[in-house]
Amino acid sequence: MGLFSRKKNTDAADAAPKKEKGSWKRPANTAFKQQRLKAWQPILTPKTVLPTLFIIGILFAPIGGLLVWGSSLATEITVNYTDCDTLTPAANVQDARNNLVDVPHFNYRLRSSESGKQPSQNPQYAFIQNNDNPDITARSQCVVQFDVPYDLDASILFYYKLTNFFQNHRRYVQSYDSDQLKGQNRSIHDLQNGNCKPVATTNDRAIYPCGLIANSLFNDTFSNLTLLNPSAGSPSTYDFTANGIAWNGERKKY
Ligand SMILES: *[C@@H]1O[C@H](CO)[C@@H](O)[C@H](O)[C@H]1NC(C)=O
Ligand SMILES: *[C@@H]1O[C@H](CO)[C@@H](O)[C@H](O)[C@H]1NC(C)=O
Ligand SMILES: *[C@@H]1O[C@H](CO)[C@@H](O)[C@H](O)[C@H]1NC(C)=O
Ligand SMILES: *[C@@H]1O[C@H](CO)[C@@H](O)[C@H](O)[C@H]1NC(C)=O
Repeated sequence: MGLFSRKKNTDAADAAPKKEKGSWKRPANTAFKQQRLKAWQPILTPKTVLPTLFIIGILFAPIGGLLVWGSSLATEITVNYTDCDTLTPAANVQDARNNLVDVPHFNYRLRSSESGKQPSQNPQYAFIQNNDNPDITARSQCVVQFDVPYDLDASILFYYKLTNFFQNHRRYVQSYDSDQLKGQNRSIHDLQNGNCKPVATTNDRAIYPCGLIANSLFNDTFSNLTLLNPSAGSPSTYDFTANGIAWNGERKKY
């Protein structure tokens, strides 16, 4: 130990004059360059950690409680009509209403104050195929009938849900041909070796526009809901509006 420290001393003494010569190499005597910056090195002991943990817990518990309470005020009715087009088609709405069958997958999540209630009947659906309809978008229709077990408060929102649809998938996002979209003549060979695979060509012809994005557009349309058993009068329609359903910033993009 003694030897070691003596040696160090002599080294330092030797080095000092040398450094004077090449003093342009010496880092400036600042806290940063000499690694003397102040640093906070917390010592984690049970005495400091436990109170911090409990204080943070007490602060956030009410926020969690509010979120649980808020979500218990919402009513959610989910109807899965995926298999609707495999049903025996009916010719018109009247025919369809007489041949409703139970929907295999559905879910009622009632608000907590009404949790004792039950839908009087499970959702039912029927398929209508009318190839003579001049409105091409209305040739295949699915009629869904479901019970609303109690009056719902505004606002009532209508969502659609797609399962196993990964819009952010790396290959999905790239699946278009920008040159083709600009109107350039892209050969079948170009498309087959481009990003559009696997929806680039069909029967040796180019697909316009090619790619998954253009060819997996969700194009179902939904009608307004009709109340079938009003307390008075004829069936009435619940009109949905498309106003005010998107943030301003999002809307300006399109
Ligand atoms: C809807 O039904 C289809 C077919 O029965 C099923 O594959 C799909 O997973 C269901 N979707 C949900 C969200 O349950
Ligand atoms: C929606 O897309 C499907 C699949 O591409 C197509 O068969 C159908 O005709 C389209 N429906 C409408 C209303 O455009
Ligand atoms: C596009 O290119 C193909 C051959 O790659 C050609 O047969 C076709 O006539 C071209 N179309 C136009 C509009 O130039
Ligand atoms: C639903 O009702 C609204 C408001 O009356 C109307 O603008 C909209 O076109 C209706 N939607 C359908 C699909 O009929």
